[in-house]
Amino acid sequence: MSEAALLTDAPPAQRILELLPDPVLLVRAGAAGGPEIAYGNQAARTLFRIELTGAPLGAALRQPQVLEAIEEALATEAAVEVAFESIGVQPRFWRAFVRPLGEGEGDGRDLVLMLRDETDARRTERMRADFLANASHELRTPLASLAGFVETLRTHARDDKDARERFLGIMAEQAGRMARLIDDLLSLSRIELNEHIAPEGTVDLAKATQDVADAIRPLTADRGVAVVLETGPGPFSVTGDRDQLVQVIQNLVENAVKYSAVGTTVRVKLFAAESLEAARAPSREGAVALSLLSPDAASSQSYVTLRVADAGRGIARQHLPRLSERFYRVEGQRSGGTGLGLAIVKHIINRHRGGILVESAEGQGSTFSIYLPAV
Ligand SMILES: Nc1ncnc2c1ncn2[C@@H]1O[C@H](COP(=O)(O)OP(=O)(O)OP(=O)(O)O)[C@@H](O)[C@H]1O
Ligand SMILES: [Mg+2]
Repeated sequence: MSEAALLTDAPPAQRILELLPDPVLLVRAGAAGGPEIAYGNQAARTLFRIELTGAPLGAALRQPQVLEAIEEALATEAAVEVAFESIGVQPRFWRAFVRPLGEGEGDGRDLVLMLRDETDARRTERMRADFLANASHELRTPLASLAGFVETLRTHARDDKDARERFLGIMAEQAGRMARLIDDLLSLSRIELNEHIAPEGTVDLAKATQDVADAIRPLTADRGVAVVLETGPGPFSVTGDRDQLVQVIQNLVENAVKYSAVGTTVRVKLFAAESLEAARAPSREGAVALSLLSPDAASSQSYVTLRVADAGRGIARQHLPRLSERFYRVEGQRSGGTGLGLAIVKHIINRHRGGILVESAEGQGSTFSIYLPAV
């Protein structure tokens, strides 16, 4: 039967089989040259690049584990399951299910071979394990320091008033760091939980940015960095969750201030009603630009863009793609941060169907831009 006929004239059960997303093969044993493929559904034919029938199984499928599983199923008449890895440019993880079907046509015996691609599940599992390991490590460092000072206060520093004061100060700082880390982790998991639910409110980004600039004044004064807000003609309204967008702006402005040198200026600019092309276009000459997040082209006609430009030390090219990974920090920058800020920014902007662009030139500074669908 031709491929087209399989989809129109075949019995319903076979048409369903044909359309299954997972590869399914009917394997016939008994022929002299080893098992043959008696049928492969569309997914199987695409995967193994085979014709409809008659191909020797060994030519299409080279994984010895799977061939052995088939031998075993034929010998024992029992179902066999095996996991294997396909080698290629990008290795993929598969699970094969082999089920004997009993006597087939002629004197051959039939079995079904079903394959399931488990690569994504594996990757997610891996990411969860890595995340847990990183989070534990980040919490253990301040905890170990706290435990160490408790011990010192109990023993050597017991009667030393000055040392006691100093150590208690450090302990308070470490406890604060742990609290911040836990707040950020909780915030991240809350954002992830509702990431698929589109936000409903309307937010004036100019107002939100002004509020952040006002709130951050003590930090900027501390560091000797000026924050200048430059807004052209609006409107700057976007569909969004105000608290989350404030969190985004706060993270970006805080980073710009934190990683800038004394006496420099951070410029925050807003642009209304930009096309997607304009919103994602680089704005900084001589810098390397990288998109950390891109929206679906169909998500909006018009975007509001916020650009936070600093004159700090900049970020080397090789770090740019990893900035929004959880806990990623550029080495040598002792910020005391948790490395979760940009991960949170990315999840929030993704929920808002927006995009993020980073541009940086080492020694000259960085610009982080976010753009959001206009109301
Ligand atoms: N404007 C910037 N200039 C230079 N480096 C930056 C800038 N923004 C971010 N980085 C680098 O990217 C890293 C990740 O930033 P992120 O905001 O995710 O974490 P953090 O600032 O270290 O901690 P947190 O924001 O969780 O307090 C920072 O540690 C820093 O190395
Ligand atoms: Mg940060």
